[in-house]
Amino acid sequence: MRLERPHRTERFGAVRIHELQRVIELDSGHGDEPAGPARTTLQVSPEAIRNIQQDMVIVVPCMNETRRVIEGVLSGIPHGCLIVLVSNSVRQPVDRYEIEAQTVEQFCQLAERPAITVHQRDPGLAAALKAAGAADLIDETGLLRSGKGEAMLVGLALASLTGRRHLGYIDADNFVPGAVNEYCKAYAAALHLADSQYAMVRISWHSKPKLRDGRLFFSRRGRASELTNQFLNQLIGEYCGFGTDVVATGNAGEHAFSLDLGMKLRLAGGYAVEPFEYLDLFEQFGGVLESPHPEVMERSVTVAQIETRNPHFHDDKGDHHVQDMRLQALNVLYHSAVCLPSVRADIQEYLAGQGRLAAGEEPPRERIYPPVGTLALDRLCDMVLTEAHTLRQFDGDDRRAEPPALLHRTRAAAGHRR
Ligand code: GDD
Ligand code: MG
Repeated sequence: MRLERPHRTERFGAVRIHELQRVIELDSGHGDEPAGPARTTLQVSPEAIRNIQQDMVIVVPCMNETRRVIEGVLSGIPHGCLIVLVSNSVRQPVDRYEIEAQTVEQFCQLAERPAITVHQRDPGLAAALKAAGAADLIDETGLLRSGKGEAMLVGLALASLTGRRHLGYIDADNFVPGAVNEYCKAYAAALHLADSQYAMVRISWHSKPKLRDGRLFFSRRGRASELTNQFLNQLIGEYCGFGTDVVATGNAGEHAFSLDLGMKLRLAGGYAVEPFEYLDLFEQFGGVLESPHPEVMERSVTVAQIETRNPHFHDDKGDHHVQDMRLQALNVLYHSAVCLPSVRADIQEYLAGQGRLAAGEEPPRERIYPPVGTLALDRLCDMVLTEAHTLRQFDGDDRRAEPPALLHRTRAAAGHRR
């Protein structure tokens, strides 16, 4: 894969945000060009990409998506990646989770590769997370809260038990397997190029096809992202005294990170999760508040933003849904400990203008969870394996792997990082 070299980088303390880099070639051949400073592009060989993917977990959050679409998504995830599907699909009157698990199992048999699936509302999973120290994740019914951020956190916790070193997220409702494949390739290429072990990659898709008056129109940006990016950029600009438009991926659902970084991140609930990742980086490593991780401050955190080539074509869940997502992003921004009074005032004004807040009222807070790295992971592993009855571990041959399998097998490998 060949990527544009980013020339502009904004710093927020120890966080380095690189400007958007276009994908120049999806496949740039085998040669390994030296990445000298004169080059305007960066080439990553298939071998380098494969090496990262073999060390990567792809977490697929899934809630009531169609079987055919899920199959397409699975087909696009490169062979070396370990798939972890975290479902919050309905189980009655038809058990859609069972259908999803069967779909994954069949895929694993045909593609001869492993995968893990679990249901977010599994009582055993809730018990395991609670015992591991994540009681905030549990709702009044004793089960894990619903929400995309919560599903991502489960995926991150399971990924940490596999011994792999990188994690990427792919939505289950993507209609274009080629786009899924490109995202995973871009994750690997950017993580390979990262010059810090604390690295994040966020995707900004090039276009989203929409039908307008019977014609396809390729719209450039998502409606939620534009607003989130605007306020994140305002925040960065006000700190450094210069306006910026460096953030193009405030809401990026498709993103990846090294687990060295991921284990330290606090995730927010629901759709606040992606914008809050930026805010958490600023809060923990931005140099404004005292960092709990001086070793990260020393090495710095690098954020790459990649503009991919495939159209982003996914299930349209309606205007209401987009509106909710925008609000959740603004809520976490407003309440972030690094948010400046001027940005807060602008957010308040925007929300009041939308009829979402009365004058002087504050937006609601979103849930923020502790980093997965602070949980008792050995405990989590033991309890997930014995009590989470929806946990399925497919080994890629023609029978269901006898638990404990994947998580257990690689636990020793995971141990050395903790
Ligand atoms: N397990 C689980 N639990 N999965 C969920 C949940 C949940 O509570 N809620 C949503 N999902 C799954 C969906 O099934 C889908 O595969 C994926 O998470 C994304 O959810 P969508 O509801 O399709 O979100 P979107 O397409 O509107 O927004 C996406 O793009 C935004 C940026 O444009 C998401 O990835 C957002 O998080 C992102 O900000
Ligand atoms: Mg979607």
